Amino acid sequence: MTILIPQPELSEGHIDDYDAKELVLDGGFVVPNKTEAFDAPEINSFGNSFRDYNAESERQKTVEEFYRQQHINQTYDYVMKMREEYGKLDKAVMSIWECCELLNDVVDDSDPDLDEPQIQHLLQSAEAIRKDYPNEDWLHLTALIHDLGKVLLLPQFGQLPQWAVVGDTFPLGCAFDESNVHHKYFTDNPDFKNPAYSTKNGIYEEGCGLDNVVISWGHDDYMYLVAKENGTTLPHAALFIIRYHSLYPLHKAGAYKHLMNEEDEEDLKWLNIFNKYDLYSKSKVLVDVDEVKPYYQSLIKKYFTEKLRW
Ligand SMILES: [Fe+2]
Ligand SMILES: [Fe+2]
Repeated sequence: MTILIPQPELSEGHIDDYDAKELVLDGGFVVPNKTEAFDAPEINSFGNSFRDYNAESERQKTVEEFYRQQHINQTYDYVMKMREEYGKLDKAVMSIWECCELLNDVVDDSDPDLDEPQIQHLLQSAEAIRKDYPNEDWLHLTALIHDLGKVLLLPQFGQLPQWAVVGDTFPLGCAFDESNVHHKYFTDNPDFKNPAYSTKNGIYEEGCGLDNVVISWGHDDYMYLVAKENGTTLPHAALFIIRYHSLYPLHKAGAYKHLMNEEDEEDLKWLNIFNKYDLYSKSKVLVDVDEVKPYYQSLIKKYFTEKLRW
């Protein structure tokens, strides 16, 4: 089944640090508009260099427009619909490594400004964590796979608009916390006017656990579904990292913590560790893919079945 969703006018990857002077992309990549010539923003492959003031303000406008679209379209019902549709896992059958390569191909084909393939972001974060936490092999693999859900941008996976794949995520079914970036745009979200969703707890109970909270749809939740439904043996903290690594209102601003339970608190410690490597391990020093591939293949074998349903 093909899901038809209007494509917004945006060509931006995962925006991790929206209001910083230098914007940081979470290994995000640019997908050209299908019908118009692609108008690339003035940034380098690391998303932190602007040629001039105009380029910077243009870029900030793009980011703001991204969040306007996201805040209007991500509703409780939309997420439930997407979870049901993608929970079928009927889009592809492939191994974890094949998915890494699939993501890589997208970068090579569509983004002349990104001199670092997507697999480098995955491997650089994984290798950086491996160096500091040599015994936590599950964390190395978690880093490798955390962004694989970005295949949602590809035609085979429904070619979802950027606002349904990347960017900061946030809970639905309760009031939108003011720490959400560009919070003002939530007023145009249909959920904003729903009284059941407009209190601090909304439809949830305090301490109910994030597992019971509906979070905006994107690459995080999709990869979580894929890993879980394919019976991964990765520990709970790994699934937590994959599922909530873009939940910046919570792990950066401390919002929504009243919905967490004790297990979430424990897992959050690992997520905070992981985030440092996700954001800051990008480097010009490329990882030799062939050299490290056997190690990651062995981890994939340890924690996943050979072929997964996506
Ligand atoms: Fe990432
Ligand atoms: Fe991500």
